[in-house]
Amino acid sequence: MNKLACIILAAGEGTRMKSRYAKVAHLLAGKPIIRYVVEAARGLEPERIAVVIGHDAERVKTVAGDGVDFVEQREQRGTGHAVMQAQALFAGYEGDLLVLSGDVPLITVETLRKLCETHRKASAACTLLSAVMKDPSGYGRIIRRANGKLLKIVEEEDASLFEKAVEEINAGIYLFSAGHLFQAIEKLSPENRQQEFYLTDVVGIFVGEGKQVEAVQVDDARGVLGINDRDELARIEKILQQKIQKAHMLNGVTIVDPANTYIEATVSIGRDTIIHPFTVIEGEVRIGTDCRIGPFSHIRGVTVVEDGAEIGNFVEVKTSLIGGGTKAKHLSYIGDATIGREANIGAGTITANYDGTAKHKTVIGDRAFIGSGTTLVAPVKVGKGAITGAGSVVLKGRDVPDGSVVVGIPAAPLKKKQK
Ligand code: UD1
Ligand code: CA
Repeated sequence: MNKLACIILAAGEGTRMKSRYAKVAHLLAGKPIIRYVVEAARGLEPERIAVVIGHDAERVKTVAGDGVDFVEQREQRGTGHAVMQAQALFAGYEGDLLVLSGDVPLITVETLRKLCETHRKASAACTLLSAVMKDPSGYGRIIRRANGKLLKIVEEEDASLFEKAVEEINAGIYLFSAGHLFQAIEKLSPENRQQEFYLTDVVGIFVGEGKQVEAVQVDDARGVLGINDRDELARIEKILQQKIQKAHMLNGVTIVDPANTYIEATVSIGRDTIIHPFTVIEGEVRIGTDCRIGPFSHIRGVTVVEDGAEIGNFVEVKTSLIGGGTKAKHLSYIGDATIGREANIGAGTITANYDGTAKHKTVIGDRAFIGSGTTLVAPVKVGKGAITGAGSVVLKGRDVPDGSVVVGIPAAPLKKKQK
């Protein structure tokens, strides 16, 4: 088994994003684009992952994730130039080098494994991933000889009309034997329309030297789509949503209308939970079994919804614990709250968690009954089995004892009328 290390190219500005922020730092299902690529690379357990950074470098450093090395490319003079910057880091390294594009996030470990297998079986100098696309515009084209052997890659900008008609594209993902790569990279020249050092020219160089270059064509071109503008970002977000939601459904979650549901990559959901349309679940959210969520629910932050709980119409839950069997079914904001089991949160209940300076906690006990339109001014506790009257405002620190009833503004213990 050959050694394996990895370089991820992420220094480019991403001009077409029209953004202040590096392209690879933009979010996909709540996670920075670059993180998907790093995680796929990590799946192969390479001995090192080097990320080439440049534009907006500090941000990319903070979002790329742990366990990677960074190499700086001060001026972005092309993908070949980016690889040159990593050369010193790999001095003396003799194994295989996987080069990934930081803006191709749907790549999977399985596809990368296939790439490695083909490369090693063929003892190639380079094996690349390609795909056939009905609309290949924007991508480098794979040019083959009449006998089907790879000849070179031509960038869209430099392609002739004939070459532009080629539907097989370069996915921007390659496995090289490191020695060959670093030799060839020194032969690159920026004589092209973009005046850049193209990594893709290495293919033509290898072919010219009689070295072997292989291509692995992926079955599903969606897996190697690149993100260059916000239209492509949205397109990939949609594909990712389909992927994330399908995984939940295959695990036993009902999603009534996947096209109108948004669930981030970091969410877990238990069996037999039903998600109704127009629900957004983002962040570190864990939802138990047999829950009813939505329609129109927004669950976010670090939240746990325990088994059998119900979160309904226009209810926002942020960084809270919702105990098993508890119901919050209409028009509520629940933030920084810990709610026990089997509680009922009436329509229009608000936890007023922010006093303008800091966020405060609300605690609601098991089987508490919070009347419609209650405002709970945090920090405050409502005891087990306690009841608040409709429209009451429970002031901060005025904890409601277990089993008691409070009503009014400000909420006070209910006094039985004397006859
Ligand atoms: C590149 C390929 C193209 C392929 C496509 C697949 C080249 C010359 N072209 O084109 O054949 O079809 O990817 O998605 O390689 N980057 C740097 N430093 C630079 C320039 C780019 O680190 O100086 C990084 C970018 O941040 C990005 C990646 O390399 O993550 C690809 O760069 P990009 O400019 O998007 O290349 P494409 O035009 O998409
Ligand atoms: Ca790209």
